[in-house]
Amino acid sequence: MSLPRDRTAWLQGGEAVCLQPPQNVQRMWHLILLGPPGVGKGTQAELLSNSLGACPLSTGDVFRAAKGRMAAPGTAMAAAQEQMKRGDLVTDEIVIDLIRERDKCLHCPGGFMLDGFPRTVAQALALDRVLSAEAIQLDAVISYELPLTELVSRLSGRRVCPRCKSVYHVTSHPPKMAGFCNECRDPLVQRDDDKPEAISVRLKAYAEATAPLIDYYKAKHLLIHVPAYGTPMDVLAKTLDALAQLVLA
Ligand code: AP5
Repeated sequence: MSLPRDRTAWLQGGEAVCLQPPQNVQRMWHLILLGPPGVGKGTQAELLSNSLGACPLSTGDVFRAAKGRMAAPGTAMAAAQEQMKRGDLVTDEIVIDLIRERDKCLHCPGGFMLDGFPRTVAQALALDRVLSAEAIQLDAVISYELPLTELVSRLSGRRVCPRCKSVYHVTSHPPKMAGFCNECRDPLVQRDDDKPEAISVRLKAYAEATAPLIDYYKAKHLLIHVPAYGTPMDVLAKTLDALAQLVLA
């Protein structure tokens, strides 16, 4: 099994650097992975990172990495933690500041795949401004699609390792020993936002705030539809095929 990608610069922000930056990357891809919660964006980001060398930049992972730690005062994460402590959703402005504080990752020598950002049209407009200021062009926005019942089943069966962050599924990708991580043997846990009451809130938020991005990127001729059924390797193959066609076009 390949080691997870070093994403220190992305997860910590500020002056943090990746100790093992990618090498010998043939083409720097600049991609957005779009799709509802549980469709498999994180799973594909990891697989695509191995195939293409591009770094998975997940905003959800940034929030999870900061959980339980006090962020440096004055940073976007400190402001985000203040909002989350009050029970509010993190505002677009703060998420955008969080990206700006990590804009060196947009110049990663391996390229990047944004996962979980942008999540609203306001975030997409802000991203356009950041990319234009950095003279970076997006290659494609991959929209993963799956019926609702399958999304719920993927979310409710997901288990994660709190130590190494490996992701499992109770039926489609079970660990070798039930309930324990294959890598570090720690007990697996369910994400708080994968509990039934949170799943319906997230799916509703996706339909209202994020799904409009499909039309936004379609209008920019960047959208690629990828049906997300089949095994993770099937979905990877479909994604790589779609990207290969883009190169040939
Ligand atoms: P985030 O972590 O981005 O959550 P999400 O977008 O809801 O996506 P998920 O991580 O739930 O699902 P996924 O598509 O990555 O699926 P996975 O590959 O794990 O964000 C979390 C929260 O942070 C948000 O709700 C929000 O509050 C906040 N946040 C983040 N970004 C923000 C932003 N920009 N602005 C404001 N707030 C923000 O797969 C799911 C399961 O299915 C796994 O168990 C996996 O093993 C299994 N699986 C995957 N592929 C397959 C397959 N092909 N076949 C069978 N099983 C599969």
